[in-house]
Amino acid sequence: MPTQLNELADPQAVVSPLTRAAIFLVLCVRPDEPSVARMRSLCADLAGLVRAVDFRDIEAGLACVAGFGSDAWDRLFGVPRPADLHPFREIRADGRHAVSTPGDILLHIRAKRMDMCFELATQIMEAAGDAITVADEVHGFRYFDDRDVLGFVDGTENPRGGAAAEAAIVGSEDPSFSGGSYVIVQKYLHDMKAWNALPVEVQEHIIGRRKLSDVELSDAKKPTSAHSALTVIEENGKQLEILRDNMPFGRPGHGEFGTYFIGYCRTPRVTELMLENMFVGRPPGNYDRILDFSRAVTGGLFFCPTTTFLQNVGAAGPGPADSGASADPGLPAGAPSGNGSLRIGSLKGEEG
Ligand code: HEM
Repeated sequence: MPTQLNELADPQAVVSPLTRAAIFLVLCVRPDEPSVARMRSLCADLAGLVRAVDFRDIEAGLACVAGFGSDAWDRLFGVPRPADLHPFREIRADGRHAVSTPGDILLHIRAKRMDMCFELATQIMEAAGDAITVADEVHGFRYFDDRDVLGFVDGTENPRGGAAAEAAIVGSEDPSFSGGSYVIVQKYLHDMKAWNALPVEVQEHIIGRRKLSDVELSDAKKPTSAHSALTVIEENGKQLEILRDNMPFGRPGHGEFGTYFIGYCRTPRVTELMLENMFVGRPPGNYDRILDFSRAVTGGLFFCPTTTFLQNVGAAGPGPADSGASADPGLPAGAPSGNGSLRIGSLKGEEG
């Protein structure tokens, strides 16, 4: 189904160029009403905060995507809900475990410069104050020619251009939330000693590509358990795709080496199928050997509504007026009525 956007709905910066730096923040919103109201205000002010930091170096390509977990959606926005939003489904198979960990809001901040990411994260945390607790924070960096810390180029087969939007952005299948995107994140830690002890050829069979040249192994050479075999899913002759922007992170002084996996898709089903193939195996037992050297220590599923939706979030919270189509005829269905913005956007001469 082609992605047809509601013309009033402006997607967040999901389809963005790869950057050299990123910060991933997973936040939990405190349960009291003032905290919830404060985070609703922050939703409305987010675009203004991004503009304020972005303008300090327009070339740095600062972007921020905010996603909301299933329970948080109900508390912050009420109804209607994105059709496929649910808590992250953990997977257990033999010793392998795709864990589900707490998190209400995901912030995916990207820029060519880490200082820009750092400044925006600082501003957002200041605005959030004690309305939230931080479940996880990861600072990711580009590693040489887009390699993960396992040494392989990561991102080659990502869809590009129109295909990226087609894969990642909700279309007419959920008209109230067209322009939005589902995102799954997992933080992986690698056993580098064990990985580095493998001959390069064995590593290449695990990934399904050559390490130095990044060329894909031929079908004859690529095992069915290769990472780049298990994550290829075809339905009705068409490949189901997701948009990834994985980032390496780590603390060599602490022996920590990781990959922050992030995958956007117009439905969580595709990423979930890939996870099933990796952890359970296709067929069951024929699992992804990356997992013999990598452990998922977080897991979350979030929905990223349009910027239009976020800008129109009201501090007053979900109520009977928000039970369907927007009360404001100028807004897309699904956009909450009212506006609790602190009007940071108006600093730049625009309506907040
Ligand atoms: C330990 C974490 C992971 C690492 C180090 C990793 C690394 C890689 C590498 C090196 C490639 C080959 C180059 C490329 O096409 O990007 C790749 C491909 C891919 N990965 Fe991962 N990945 C990880 C987790 C995941 C997860 C959790 C998913 C999905 C749930 C996933 C989905 C994909 C897909 C769809 C491809 C492209 C397959 C193709 O079309 O050939 N990856 N990954």
